[in-house]
Amino acid sequence: MKVLVVGGGCREHALCWSLHQDPEVEKLYAAPGNAGTALHAENLPIAADDIDSLTRLAQELRPDLTVVGPEAPLCAGITDAFGRHGLAVFGPSSRSARLEGSKVWTKELAQRYGVPTAEARSFDDPREAISFSRGFPFPQVIKADGLASGKGVFIATDFSQAQKAIVSLMEQRLYGAAGQRLLIEAFLEGVELSAFALFDAKQYSVLGVAHDYKRIEDGDRGPNTGGMGAFLPSPFVSPALLRQIEESIFSRLHAACIGERLDYRGVLYAGLMMTREGPFLLEINVRFGDPEAQVLLPSLETPLSEIARATCRDELGSLRLLRHRRSVVGVVIASSGYPENPRLDDRIIVSESKTPASGMQGLLFYGAAKETQGILRTAGGRVFTAVGWGDRLAEARERAYEQVSAVSFPGMHFRKDIASFLAGRPVPEREEG
Ligand code: AMP
Ligand code: GLY
Repeated sequence: MKVLVVGGGCREHALCWSLHQDPEVEKLYAAPGNAGTALHAENLPIAADDIDSLTRLAQELRPDLTVVGPEAPLCAGITDAFGRHGLAVFGPSSRSARLEGSKVWTKELAQRYGVPTAEARSFDDPREAISFSRGFPFPQVIKADGLASGKGVFIATDFSQAQKAIVSLMEQRLYGAAGQRLLIEAFLEGVELSAFALFDAKQYSVLGVAHDYKRIEDGDRGPNTGGMGAFLPSPFVSPALLRQIEESIFSRLHAACIGERLDYRGVLYAGLMMTREGPFLLEINVRFGDPEAQVLLPSLETPLSEIARATCRDELGSLRLLRHRRSVVGVVIASSGYPENPRLDDRIIVSESKTPASGMQGLLFYGAAKETQGILRTAGGRVFTAVGWGDRLAEARERAYEQVSAVSFPGMHFRKDIASFLAGRPVPEREEG
């Protein structure tokens, strides 16, 4: 089969790597792809959110399957556009993608279907928001309704911070139309978790859970990023807790999708807070996480094409999902200045002798890296994800950091505590069994 992967980050390199090993996949394209996807796929220079050009391209190439990495093309309707030409996409329609595109709509949906989530109110008038904020307990969380590349969330510890956030989102339109409406919600305490499930129009199936590291610096300091590292499995999620996540989060969200006739087909990523009262939904993403995909994909034994095809055909009920019993760790290598102002065009050296061939329990996924005239340079914020796996978490971590040491460029930055500390606690090895 022919497969098109849309996107150009480390996650999309991981998708191409996974599909490349899949015996069903004969030809792989990536749009726009990057220097890493080029190792497995033919890169086509079309931006991931240029739906018209992608649709014309797909009409020519006729891929049997399209796998979409980022949220922007999903929210912009790539699945609907391809569907009008009879082309299957592993990823939800634009109506379903509102689960990521509108936090207000999703909060109301979660409340209606009994999904545990922080108490919240929505506002479209800044004066009303400010007056509510004054009387609501602190810390409180202020969230822009729309897409803001993960930056539209503020944790305010006092009223003056809250007021500043409301004014910058709603009046100064820091993130444009994303700030037309906002949510003010209660602050939840606990350990965060990224939980992934496959949804089709009839069934759902849990894919796995991973921990993501959102802050730029060790010890969870500094600004939020798209994610600086990830690992799985979680030693903090017992089988009983996993069942609770399934019952109180995924099964209710799936009921919501059925109830609202969303016909959701793709990966659903639930950002959760594990509180004393159990798992609470923080947000929904309608795609794989980045860097979570880089650890999730090497943990799956069932080929991705089989997973995607079953999802697109509403056949999840008969899919047998097999996983490797291994720990996987991913460490993001970012460019200098990320996340505020990533420096571009730094020359990158990758030591071939230190990068094992795939299958040797370590991989280097390329993200914002471009190659011109044989020279590799930084082209954005998150440049690589170094991944390692093994029977034990300690081995996986060691292999991931070995991969990191294969890379060098001026100002490269990575966290040194991935999979060794989480939310201020040492990460234990998981119990056997
Ligand atoms: P979101 O995009 O809604 O997931 O928010 C981004 C980040 O803000 C999350 O990953 C959490 O770290 C934090 N966050 C969001 N909502 C809450 C909340 N209600 N309580 C505590 N932290 C939150
Ligand atoms: N790692 C968080 C995300 O992909 O949104």
